Amino acid sequence: MTKSAPLTATKSTTSTPSASGAPLVAVRDLSLTLDVAGQKRLVLRDVSLTIQRGEALALVGESGAGKSMTARAIARLQPDRATTTGSVHFDGREMLGLRGEQLRQARSGMSVIFQDPRAYINPVRRIGDFLTEQLRTVAHVDRHEATRRAQQMLSEVGITDTARRLHQYPGDLSGGMLQRVMIASALLSEPKLILADEPTTALDVTTQSEVMAILDELRHDAGVALLFITHDLDLAAAVCDRTAVMYAGQIVEAQESTGLHHHPRHPYTAALAAARPDLERPTSRLASIPGRPVGAWEAAQTCAFSDRCPHRQPRCTESGPLPLTHESGHSVRCIRADELGPLLQGESE
Ligand SMILES: Nc1ncnc2c1ncn2[C@@H]1O[C@H](COP(=O)(O)OP(=O)(O)OP(=O)(O)O)[C@@H](O)[C@H]1O
Ligand SMILES: [Mg+2]
Repeated sequence: MTKSAPLTATKSTTSTPSASGAPLVAVRDLSLTLDVAGQKRLVLRDVSLTIQRGEALALVGESGAGKSMTARAIARLQPDRATTTGSVHFDGREMLGLRGEQLRQARSGMSVIFQDPRAYINPVRRIGDFLTEQLRTVAHVDRHEATRRAQQMLSEVGITDTARRLHQYPGDLSGGMLQRVMIASALLSEPKLILADEPTTALDVTTQSEVMAILDELRHDAGVALLFITHDLDLAAAVCDRTAVMYAGQIVEAQESTGLHHHPRHPYTAALAAARPDLERPTSRLASIPGRPVGAWEAAQTCAFSDRCPHRQPRCTESGPLPLTHESGHSVRCIRADELGPLLQGESE
């Protein structure tokens, strides 16, 4: 068993390793503290992960686990007065110390897709202006060419009548259509990384799967890496080969997405898997995780999940902070992981 190696996404079918072999994203021991009304609040604790070029990693976990904050820290979009320690390497650059033009340049290699497109698209600007702005101002593409590319990208995300769409306003489009526009916008800048924070949560189920299929296909075609945040373990498995599970600002487990359902090694992962609806085995009552999720600032220094864990033993809270241990591409932060493995398998199914 090795300790403190970062988690690695290994999407075998799409992997396009860089010439240097260095990961596109390497987050190491990232901790983030917010200033909330003058009080320091730790929200991320020693987060480490890597994403290779062209690979996809899902981040799952209950509300407040720190998924969005991890993505925001990678893009350096954390709230004002947040302090960070550790390291965020993106495409060969350390992001945490960058300022001004250097930061803008580094960020131009990544795109963010948020849960609610309406919150991020200016309602009084036409779709065409929204889509072409970055191409024209950052990449200095002329108006005619920028419009051509925008129309082409709209077609690729399944939007018809593209010339008319460019003249419409966000309010003229449905939520699903607008999220397709966001995906088109994200891909137009030819990013190396897409940070997708619950991109389909606000959509109905049918539109959700259509939008995910488009994102997945375009991402594969363009060889773009993806950090995909979701509450849905099944969606994570469908889109990403590896999934990292967050709890209380920490990564508690990561492995191939399909294995997560069948071979969880952390009690929290097993509980999350058991709490999801299973259409093949309908039940009158879904399992829920007792207690409430806690933030990193209020979690136990030892095992953060200990106060909700059905497998807790005295020794779980007697040691110091638990390291993430790594074995055969599987990472887990649980002192009992080896002995609990077979038991958890039954719990999650
Ligand atoms: N601007 C903020 N001010 C104060 N606390 C914040 C702020 N943003 C996030 N937090 C806290 O940081 C923690 C991590 O938040 P984050 O948004 O990353 O969670 P999440 O895993 O994305 O949850 P969700 O699934 O609900 O989106 C939470 O406890 C949250 O309350
Ligand atoms: Mg979030």
